[in-house]
Amino acid sequence: MTQNSGLARAFDDLADSYDHGHHEAVARALIALVEPGADDVVADVACGAGAVALQLAQHRQAAARPVLAVDLSPGMVAAGKIRAASLGVEGAVDWRVTDAVPLPVGDHCVDVVFCASSLHFLGRPALADWHRALRPGGRVGFTLPLATHFRASKDFAQHLAHDVPLPESAEEARIWAASYGWTNVASRVHAFGTRRVVLVCASSPDTRS
Ligand SMILES: C[S@@+](CC[C@H](N)C(=O)[O-])C[C@H]1O[C@@H](n2cnc3c(N)ncnc32)[C@H](O)[C@@H]1O
Repeated sequence: MTQNSGLARAFDDLADSYDHGHHEAVARALIALVEPGADDVVADVACGAGAVALQLAQHRQAAARPVLAVDLSPGMVAAGKIRAASLGVEGAVDWRVTDAVPLPVGDHCVDVVFCASSLHFLGRPALADWHRALRPGGRVGFTLPLATHFRASKDFAQHLAHDVPLPESAEEARIWAASYGWTNVASRVHAFGTRRVVLVCASSPDTRS
């Protein structure tokens, strides 16, 4: 069993009892920070059951391309499709069950990349891939758990990426993102009950100017 198939299975097992309340709130706060346009080309990386993708789907312009939603876990994506049907937005999300790194898109053709509650599984290669996928000046919105408030359960601890340090503050996350070439970095701590996550919004450099 590869690392990724073990992780996919762990999330498949979680799909029926997934904590939608927390993840919906994180996704809502992240979208509010990034403020994507209703017709932007958007990817939801490691989308799970579509916390970000489904909120965007409900506000898409009719002619906009479906939100690309990519996840390793067939169970999480199946749950996302059921939720999309209940919201009446089936056509507004393009679901793919595959590794999200690299994203299944060409170079520099995405306006906004979202990655909620997942970068700590994907690792640093995701950051480089988002620079590749985003158009110059395109934006990214991602979250990381705040180190002081996070303890991974046994099933998930073994899958954490060792090259993504969990920040102890929003400022630490801002500096970390800037060190990987992101510009206009904004970050803040989001609280939901006893949980704390850092939200980060940034731009890919516009090298044309
Ligand atoms: C905590 S969940 C977050 C899901 C969703 N973004 C949300 O906010 O609810 C983490 C997700 O990352 C996915 N994942 C982890 N590594 C992945 C990879 N390399 N490619 C695609 N999906 C991945 C898992 O399958 C899982 O659905």
